[in-house]
Amino acid sequence: RLSSAKELLLNAEQGGYAIGAFNVYNLEGVEAVVAAAEEEQSPAILQIHPGALKQGGIPLVSCCIAAAEQASVPITVHFDHGTSKEDMVEALELGLDSLMVDGSHLSFKDNVSYTKFISVLAHAKGMLVEAELGRLSGTEDDLTVEDYEARLTDVNQAQEFIDETGIDSLAVCIGNVHGKYPASGPNLRLDLLKDLDALCSNRGVFLVLHGASGLCKELIKECIERGVRKFNVNTEVRKAYMDSLGSPKKDLVHVMASAKEAMKAVIAEKMRLFGSAGKA
Ligand code: G3H
Ligand code: 13P
Ligand code: ZN
Ligand code: NA
Repeated sequence: RLSSAKELLLNAEQGGYAIGAFNVYNLEGVEAVVAAAEEEQSPAILQIHPGALKQGGIPLVSCCIAAAEQASVPITVHFDHGTSKEDMVEALELGLDSLMVDGSHLSFKDNVSYTKFISVLAHAKGMLVEAELGRLSGTEDDLTVEDYEARLTDVNQAQEFIDETGIDSLAVCIGNVHGKYPASGPNLRLDLLKDLDALCSNRGVFLVLHGASGLCKELIKECIERGVRKFNVNTEVRKAYMDSLGSPKKDLVHVMASAKEAMKAVIAEKMRLFGSAGKA
């Protein structure tokens, strides 16, 4: 059933687990998330990146909403990484319940005013607002942020950011990256996450971690223990889709079904790791 992001995140907060937010691009992706959620009896977030919206348009949004409405478990639809006012103005009109304002490419001052501007408009529509402070490195939908540009979230700035913008969820940078982690593995600053959690808990703000593809079971557990309530997952699901195309298929329907199954397996595994399985 179509549910609110707030309901899902509050339940996760009370239950001490996290919700998986999976980027979707087409019907197979949407079906994979919903099928995994139903199989695992898990709540889930379908999220649409501006790059996906550019390809799929309103039909993609309608597909997500219809799939959520028909699901037997709680599903919400979220707009991911709006980096410009144009993106956000479009996102505000999609009929969704939550969105992410991404001003992480801006200076702190400009990020505050951009996020605050959108936050006021989104709250007027009753939407839940996520924003990012610090900056993730890595590649997402052809947009690459070099390592040297990556900045960790500063706790004092985070406090000012939350108080000035009135956001509901904070996406933090603690060494998490979009896409692949270096061969040496992820280097997450769990000490910093603990401090950010203390701040967010105090302010009633949900902690969000992007770049969850590539994080091992143990790290995910450590992050949940330090208050992360939403993990964004994209790369591993896309890879499962692409890899499934490698084996010979008889026809289009077979291609679609095997892509869906491949994505579903990755998504279901994440739901178990995030602790949302069995929580629907
Ligand atoms: O109501 C929201 C919670 O206090 C969020 O805290 O950072 O531990 O998820 P959290
Ligand atoms: P990954 O591609 O590393 O899973 O990151 C996903 C993400 O943060 C989407 O916003
Ligand atoms: Zn992200
Ligand atoms: Na990642």
